[in-house]
Amino acid sequence: MHAFIEIGYLIATLSFLVGLKFMSSPKKAMTGNLIAAMGMVLAVVLTFIAALTDTVPFTNLIIMFLAIAVGTVMGKRLSDKVEMTGMPQLVSLFNATGGGCAMLLGLVEANQMDITTAVLGNKILLIAGLITGAVALTGSIIAERKLAGKVKDRRTKTVIFSARILLVLMVLLPVLYFFGFIPIGFSAFMYVLATLAMVYGVLFVLPIGGADMPVVISLLNSITGIATAFAGFVYGNKVMIAGGIFVGAAGILLTLLMCKAMNRSLLKVLAGTFKKSKNGAVEEEQEIKEISISETALSLSFAQKVAIVPGYGLAVAQAQHLCAQLQQLLEKRNCEVDYIIHPVAGRMPGHMNVLLAEANVDYSRLKEMDEGNENMAQYDTVLVIGANDVVNPAAENNPDSPVYGMPIIRTHESKQVIVMKRSMGKGYAGVQNDLFGLDNCSILFGDAKVSLQEIVNQLKLI
Ligand code: TAP
Repeated sequence: MHAFIEIGYLIATLSFLVGLKFMSSPKKAMTGNLIAAMGMVLAVVLTFIAALTDTVPFTNLIIMFLAIAVGTVMGKRLSDKVEMTGMPQLVSLFNATGGGCAMLLGLVEANQMDITTAVLGNKILLIAGLITGAVALTGSIIAERKLAGKVKDRRTKTVIFSARILLVLMVLLPVLYFFGFIPIGFSAFMYVLATLAMVYGVLFVLPIGGADMPVVISLLNSITGIATAFAGFVYGNKVMIAGGIFVGAAGILLTLLMCKAMNRSLLKVLAGTFKKSKNGAVEEEQEIKEISISETALSLSFAQKVAIVPGYGLAVAQAQHLCAQLQQLLEKRNCEVDYIIHPVAGRMPGHMNVLLAEANVDYSRLKEMDEGNENMAQYDTVLVIGANDVVNPAAENNPDSPVYGMPIIRTHESKQVIVMKRSMGKGYAGVQNDLFGLDNCSILFGDAKVSLQEIVNQLKLI
């Protein structure tokens, strides 16, 4: 039976690997998700079988069964109900449960461990799993609340200072404990550590800017993976170790990629700061050219190649369906339409891809930033819908700009750019956009949904 379970765990581990590989392509992502989910189901069933054969008390088996049943039903209901735009919050909640599990494992094991005979390495792993799990638990809950707009940023000195003190304590206390300076039982000590780590999780996330939450969620995801791997080492469970390492590595890579695409260091994101412009708040005066709905519709009607650059405003306006409608209308007029997607457009990884998938936009129409930039001069019209920072030429031309160094979609190199936005409001980085003052750029003011609807109406008449 032991060999059978080990082989099953190996298959589960392989399915995580294959699933992850598939998830790197939008077309295969759903299949990848399914394969990884099947692997997880296999791992859970095998663990249950292992418990059955390991003379685990009957009541424990019932508790396991109930936990699996409740988790399955709740997970299914939450995923069925969630809107695409609520995905980051849901991921954060699921992540909290993962962290919570790792913390509970630490507490339960500490209760059963014979501290005098246990290997030091195991005790360290248990503590590491407990601390990382507890941080991921409360950190993810706060991140979810912040994304939902229910908790505000608290970047006060007290919060930052208290978090630092807790961090030092979480490193120092275990050392003092192992040298015998804290005369309490191991289990009680673990409760103290869990409490400190949970408070730290809250204080760690509170000061970080609300819009940086996707980066933080990805980081917390990685922390949960690491906590799971620690627990896997304690139990000698290979599938937990492998699964934890995959999640930990994928989470940290995604975090770093997001930071790179924003040209901000992880430290700056965590400190909740943006680089300040050298010449302070002084902004160059721009000559803005406004364009009307009918002029926009007319331009589009003559265009043979159009690019749509979506941004956060498209999500705010929930205009993705109208955007797809406009694309179809243009295609019927023999106009080639591409979507050019910036890796950090919007507020979460793949935000624009998810929005456009919701509107059933064919993936073959989506171009990555580099490909779009290579062919930019060929576009007769580029329609920037609710994007701002990701098309700001200052990122390439102005070393003093806070966005300098961030890769951008070079819409200014096309023949004509029309930016759809409601006002002269700034983007996430809070800086002036040099694109708006260029000769080939005009602004169509208004809510993207309203403007797109009117453009579609007019195009039908032309
Ligand atoms: P932003 O720079 O945030 O600009 C969004 C623009 O949309 C604003 O200029 C706003 O102008 C406009 N807008 C808002 N609501 C609108 C509506 N209803 N109709 C029309 N326009 C509307 O967006 P972006 O270009 O997508 O850039 C994303 C930013 O977020 C980057 O700076 C990136 O670094 C940051 N970020 C991204 C992520 C990920 S993973 N995607 C994570 C954290 C941070 P008005 O107010 O004038 O309408």
